[in-house]
Amino acid sequence: MERIPSARMMIRFLLLHCLILSFMIASANTTSITTDQQALLSLKGHVTDDPANFLARNWNTSSSVCNWTGVTCDVRTHRVTALNISGLNLTGTIPSELGNLSSLQTLDLSINWFSGSIPASIFNMSSLLSIRFSNNTLFGELPPNFCNHLSNLESLFLKSNMFHGKIPSTLSNCKRLRNISLSLNDFSGTIPKEIGNVTKLIGLYLRGNQLQGMINEFN
Ligand SMILES: *[C@@H]1O[C@H](CO)[C@@H](O)[C@H](O)[C@H]1NC(C)=O
Ligand SMILES: *[C@@H]1O[C@H](CO)[C@@H](O)[C@H](O)[C@H]1NC(C)=O
Ligand SMILES: *[C@@H]1O[C@H](CO)[C@@H](O)[C@H](O)[C@H]1NC(C)=O
Ligand SMILES: *[C@@H]1O[C@H](CO)[C@@H](O)[C@H](O)[C@H]1NC(C)=O
Ligand SMILES: *[C@@H]1O[C@H](CO)[C@@H](O)[C@H](O)[C@H]1NC(C)=O
Ligand SMILES: *[C@@H]1O[C@H](CO)[C@@H](O)[C@H](O)[C@H]1NC(C)=O
Ligand SMILES: *[C@@H]1O[C@H](CO)[C@@H](O)[C@H](O)[C@H]1NC(C)=O
Ligand SMILES: *[C@@H]1O[C@H](CO)[C@@H](O)[C@H](O)[C@H]1NC(C)=O
Ligand SMILES: *[C@@H]1O[C@H](CO)[C@@H](O)[C@H](O)[C@H]1NC(C)=O
Repeated sequence: MERIPSARMMIRFLLLHCLILSFMIASANTTSITTDQQALLSLKGHVTDDPANFLARNWNTSSSVCNWTGVTCDVRTHRVTALNISGLNLTGTIPSELGNLSSLQTLDLSINWFSGSIPASIFNMSSLLSIRFSNNTLFGELPPNFCNHLSNLESLFLKSNMFHGKIPSTLSNCKRLRNISLSLNDFSGTIPKEIGNVTKLIGLYLRGNQLQGMINEFN
């Protein structure tokens, strides 16, 4: 007689757990999409000039971030996986909130007027495969811990900016790097030999800097 109610209790208990669990998953997802939206709105807020009104017209909360110009989302998870706002003549700075796009694989801000330095939070984005900041007016140094979290990075394009300082030897810790372009900046010192340890590297572009090293001709 006692077994039936206890089995029912058990089922109820399990159902309740399923319900709580799915609620937790759902709210976690919501938080993430909201976080992505906040990160992008923060970027919009840090853009001081947008001559074609690209972000002003398009990046508003009446549509999903996944519908915004230059934003690509994963179909299944609805998280932002690519941000490409290259060539929009935008002036502004990169906010640290951008580092909250925790599913981002491609970050292309090239051919704009972004200034200031790259916030440390960007170096925290372990999902990133591609950083494209070429043709801006960014400055600062590449930190020695550059590769601590960017372990999946395949492309690093910083060409035509105002970066300075040494190329950290620890750049070789980004084992998946295929292309590095640091051309037309103000990097100085020697080209670290450790770069030779990056076995997947097929393109290394360093011309137009103050570098010394074994190899004379880098593009
Ligand atoms: C919001 O963005 C959508 C496109 O994503 C656009 O059609 C709409 O006009 C915008 N609304 C405002 C108020 O700017
Ligand atoms: C995104 O755009 C598509 C088609 O352009 C539209 O059907 C859909 O409702 C939009 N979604 C949101 C959340 O704005
Ligand atoms: C970003 O967009 C530009 C212009 O639409 C395109 O040339 C470039 O290849 C894109 N970047 C990436 C990483 O796909
Ligand atoms: C950016 O500025 C250049 C030069 O003023 C212009 O030729 C180009 O059309 C602009 N691009 C956009 C997307 O507004
Ligand atoms: C996003 O990042 C900023 C600065 O990196 C942080 O202060 C903030 O709490 C984060 N916001 C969310 C919603 O995660
Ligand atoms: C990097 O991520 C860690 C863990 O998620 C966090 O504690 C730290 O504050 C982040 N650093 C920056 C500069 O955003
Ligand atoms: C990028 O910068 C280089 C060097 O300043 C310049 O020669 C090139 O025309 C620029 N490319 C674009 C698309 O603006
Ligand atoms: C990386 O390169 C340096 C200098 O060429 C070498 O001494 C070192 O053993 C290499 N490290 C690894 C982990 O391959
Ligand atoms: C990497 O460099 C190679 C050689 O220059 C080039 O063929 C390839 O398109 C580059 N890849 C990317 C993603 O730019």
